[in-house]
Amino acid sequence: MSDAVISASGRTPVRMEVNGVAETVYVEPRWLLSDVLRHQLGLTGTHVGCEQGVCGVCTVLLDGVLVRSCLLFAVQVDGHRVTTIEGVTPDEGLSPIQASFQRHHGLQCGFCTPAMVLTAEALLRTHPNPSEADIRDAFSGNICRCTGYQFIVDAIRGCSEEER
Ligand code: FES
Ligand code: FES
Repeated sequence: MSDAVISASGRTPVRMEVNGVAETVYVEPRWLLSDVLRHQLGLTGTHVGCEQGVCGVCTVLLDGVLVRSCLLFAVQVDGHRVTTIEGVTPDEGLSPIQASFQRHHGLQCGFCTPAMVLTAEALLRTHPNPSEADIRDAFSGNICRCTGYQFIVDAIRGCSEEER
């Protein structure tokens, strides 16, 4: 792992592993994890919508668990491991889940998609062959204004079936 110092300006240092890279960022205590990921680390695949924990578009994995990055202060993740959509995307091409979203038309505008893909990653780790009810339950906290959700369900089921 590299050790990147982002900036030093008298702010609080936060050390975390982001997508397998050890990072140190200097933050104000009021700064949200979502904003630090986007603005300090340039990981703009983490989107921001409601900023009150409702829409789910800011979802990331914290030590492998889904969290809303708009509901966490960056200082709270000191010493922890964060995975964003960039961390599950291959350097070339698409991950199996992303390819399944593409194949099944599981996205339109794409605003919700990074969070949907991370939610799918977390679901398929614990439920390799989820039922439609499992999928709808897992995605109940992720709002999509475009797809009507059925194509997202199809993408998850399509991916899990291929991985059997
Ligand atoms: S921006 Fe975090 S839940 Fe909506
Ligand atoms: S694809 Fe547009 S919000 Fe989900």
